[in-house]
Amino acid sequence: VGMQIDIVSVFPEYFDVLNLSLFGKAQSKGLVSVHAHNLRDWTHDVHHSVDDTPVGGGAGMVMKPEVWAECLDDLLGLEPREMNADGESDSNSNASAGVPDGADTTVTTSAAAGGSPSNGTVVTAAESDGTGDAEHLPASDSASADTVPNSDSQAPTHNLGTVLIFPNPSAPLFTQRDATELSHAKRLMFGCGRYEGYDARIPEYYRAQGVDVREYSIGDYVLNGGEVAVSVMLEAITRLLPGFMGNPESIVEESYTGSEALLEHRQYTRPAVWRGMGVPDVLLSGDHGKVDRFRRDEALARTDAIRPDLIEQLDCTQLSKADRKT
Ligand code: ADE
Repeated sequence: VGMQIDIVSVFPEYFDVLNLSLFGKAQSKGLVSVHAHNLRDWTHDVHHSVDDTPVGGGAGMVMKPEVWAECLDDLLGLEPREMNADGESDSNSNASAGVPDGADTTVTTSAAAGGSPSNGTVVTAAESDGTGDAEHLPASDSASADTVPNSDSQAPTHNLGTVLIFPNPSAPLFTQRDATELSHAKRLMFGCGRYEGYDARIPEYYRAQGVDVREYSIGDYVLNGGEVAVSVMLEAITRLLPGFMGNPESIVEESYTGSEALLEHRQYTRPAVWRGMGVPDVLLSGDHGKVDRFRRDEALARTDAIRPDLIEQLDCTQLSKADRKT
């Protein structure tokens, strides 16, 4: 079975596009299975309200914890818990019920986007998972252990169980490293909030239940809601699943993927001269060593000019003498 993905949103139709194109193909191949749920299905009031005014005052609305919790409890197969003053679950905690890291929580809902919780069957298996799930890396000759993405000391943990993700403009940035790590999860659940935010107790509560909860920003700008951010993260993650891409080698080489995050060198195709514009001579030389050096120099120089922050993060001990000259 492929990766299971649940998305909760007040606009589940937004994700209908996932049935198209590469993602649709991946679904029919069984690599992923996606369900978009409507948060309002878990409301009980006539207005199906999901938000309220901020405690402490201020503009905008904040998403209510109760509705989110009913939804997420359902999808995760958790019982509601009262938290004590220390921010811990009282006895009988869900954590001891087997939801922590590596637990395999399986949910089947109606295939229809926005399927109501009433026709969802929830099965929770508390098996601990230390096995299986071989490296999700392109199975190509060149993808040996020392060329694989993120094979450095900060390599991501593999064999993740269920991960609950909330897009949030005030969270750490989502990077290729996170995408790589999350591509090893069994199940991803995304909660789309509106931009003013959701009650801060929601992620905190599920963390206390032993759920792996992440909050990510996709960039330093503000969107109207989490839907676009979730599509971005989803695409970055799922394209790394084995079998998703037509040409897996294109994943290994591109920007941000290796243990060093460098911008890519520029690309050219034929003709060698177009509207009077040539391509760099070295690329026509047929000397692969020279071509590699040229491209590497360009990657370093462009990264230094455009993204000096990425150069700062480079591990200088990993750079060759020739690199340092650049
Ligand atoms: N919601 C609104 N803006 C966002 C951003 N930049 N990243 C993630 N979630 C968001």
